[in-house]
Amino acid sequence: MSLLLGVNIDHVATLRQARYAMNPDAPILEPSILEAALEAKAGGADSITVHVREDRRHMQDDDARLVRREIDLPLNLELANTAEMVAFACDLKPDFACLVPEKREEVTTEGGLDVIGNQDSLRQTVAKLQSSGIQVSLFIDSERGQIQAAADIGAEMIELHTGTFALTTGKEHESEIRRLQSGADLGNSLGLRVNAGHGIHLDNIKDLFYVKNLKEFNIGHTLISRALIVGMRAAVKEMKVAMQEYPTTQ
Ligand code: PXP
Repeated sequence: MSLLLGVNIDHVATLRQARYAMNPDAPILEPSILEAALEAKAGGADSITVHVREDRRHMQDDDARLVRREIDLPLNLELANTAEMVAFACDLKPDFACLVPEKREEVTTEGGLDVIGNQDSLRQTVAKLQSSGIQVSLFIDSERGQIQAAADIGAEMIELHTGTFALTTGKEHESEIRRLQSGADLGNSLGLRVNAGHGIHLDNIKDLFYVKNLKEFNIGHTLISRALIVGMRAAVKEMKVAMQEYPTTQ
């Protein structure tokens, strides 16, 4: 199977909220989340990601509901591990839920979710989401202990945090690529579906192609940035074209 592209459209909401957060009943709210998702689909997106934060800083509950209802693509909801957000997810029923850290104490040194430190609570959350028919992913660093813990608590997927990969160059960057490969190998050997995300763009994506057996890239910032220049459909399309070079025969 070829590498999938999950398009994170959060920054469309970021831009809208910059103007309308205080005036949510304005006659026109732009840019439109729905149009952005439709254009992403037209450009070849394999799924749409929205992150509804606890503070509703960007995406609102109704945005996620609208995308769920109107867009005929798998929906990936990013959420924090809180009772309120988990209840929202169980009601929304996205295809995938990706648990991400929003609070300092949930974050590892690299910035992924600290599964080891929050195992009991995460185990319950994973089970709850799964009982609503949602497949669960955990956004974690490529670290053996965290990956093993993700498998132990029953998650179906992990999303390896590529933030450090994206910020490094030279030897450090190469060592990050090796670290991501070890994580992908371990995840796959434990029966997890292994995705990757954060900070991926057209310049660094080819370096990620050295990491084998990844299933999906989740990409947001660069696509929305490019969309300002070339449009959403074209931005997604050029990313999909770049992704065709990913080796798929392992
Ligand atoms: N994956 C996860 C879990 C995220 O929270 C985000 C957004 O920060 C992304 C992927 C996309 O990252 P970026 O916007 O840097 O492409």
